[in-house]
Amino acid sequence: MKKKIALVTGITGQDGSYLAELLLKKNYIVHGLIRKSSSFNTGRIDNIYIDPHNKTNFFLHYGDLTDSNSIYNLINNIRPDEIYNLGAQSHVGVSFENPEYTSEVSGIGTLRLLEAIRFLKIKKIKFYQASTSELFGETYKKNIFNEKSKFHPKSPYGVAKLYSYWITSVYREAYGIFACNGILFNHESPRRGETFVTRKITRFLTRKKLGSKDILYLGNLNAKRDWGHAKDYVEMQWRILQQKKPDDFVVATGQTQSVRQFIDTSVKLLNMKIKWQGKGLNEKCYLINKGKKELLIKIDKKYFRPNEVNYLKGDASKAFKKLKFKPKFSFKDLVRDMIINDLKLAQKEQK
Ligand code: NAP
Ligand code: GDD
Repeated sequence: MKKKIALVTGITGQDGSYLAELLLKKNYIVHGLIRKSSSFNTGRIDNIYIDPHNKTNFFLHYGDLTDSNSIYNLINNIRPDEIYNLGAQSHVGVSFENPEYTSEVSGIGTLRLLEAIRFLKIKKIKFYQASTSELFGETYKKNIFNEKSKFHPKSPYGVAKLYSYWITSVYREAYGIFACNGILFNHESPRRGETFVTRKITRFLTRKKLGSKDILYLGNLNAKRDWGHAKDYVEMQWRILQQKKPDDFVVATGQTQSVRQFIDTSVKLLNMKIKWQGKGLNEKCYLINKGKKELLIKIDKKYFRPNEVNYLKGDASKAFKKLKFKPKFSFKDLVRDMIINDLKLAQKEQK
């Protein structure tokens, strides 16, 4: 049987790396778009790249979501069956500092891909857009959000992604392109970028466990997120494109935890004892060790966003039913997976 060809943007990122592994397991030929950087940015996919079995079915191409020509030429050359648009400036906090760039990449970048598909008239292409729970943003009476919920983004990133969501939907309706949105709630893993809050916490606490003297600075501890595992969620990205008709799906666990609860769970798994003291910007967390109190976490205003999404919880009933979505990782499993990985990293660093 002829192998399917996939193009993945954002292949060097958390999801891109897991998705590439999944597609290769499913016998796809995988092409990834990577951007030129002055230092190596392929750490998450080096394992795939150096494996001799992948010599004839894994290819990387320089390009950029801000560069229409690179996108058009790549799609024209490889003529993929499926395109997964995972590339983005994906950090909400950074989007307040670089709003125009974020819009270019995470918003107009999607249009560039869809325009290439339209111009090239490659009918077989199925297109996946990495949409996000940041589309919902505002909380209306502690809602649980589904595909029909009202959008109300609260950051330049959320607005850029809202553009991508709608342009994907418009190209589906106007040109009959098989284009889908996966509206994914937060998902983490040992491959999560270290500036996102979960990984920032697990990297810090595991180093602390091995004796580091550092202090962790965080922002809003009360924000709540619906955290799943990236490995579960990339499987859903693939399943969305295997449906008979193009459609949009919320992918979430239906559980929500605060940043503080994420810390508490991590600490328990590490067999550490902590104590929270104070309020607001003066709140502090102490490590209690052999009767001694050591400062562990402090609040730093700079990690608060100008506009915050305080609460996210998703209702993935449609995905449960149609995609047969059943997350393998519970919240605790997710934190454990990250802790185990980061403990090993911390041990390596010590050596
Ligand atoms: P990530 O780890 O930040 O990866 C982002 C990827 O985009 C990286 O490969 C990055 O390349 C690439 N990229 C950035 N700017 C680019 C540009 N100008 N041109 C081409 N590629 C560019 O993100 P993730 O967590 O894997 O998320 C994947 C996608 O899902 C993103 O679109 C994100 O917005 C969306 N999403 C994520 C979550 C989540 O909780 N993880 C939830 C909902 C939606 P470099 O490696 O060179 O930086
Ligand atoms: N990054 C970060 N760093 N966040 C902090 C910190 C900190 O030091 N302290 C508190 N937080 C809070 C943020 O204010 C936010 O409320 C929450 O922790 C989660 O922040 P992030 O981990 O940066 O993720 P996010 O929810 O803003 O965005 C992620 O999920 C979206 C889906 O809802 C990203 O992956 C987005 O790309 C994705 O679309």
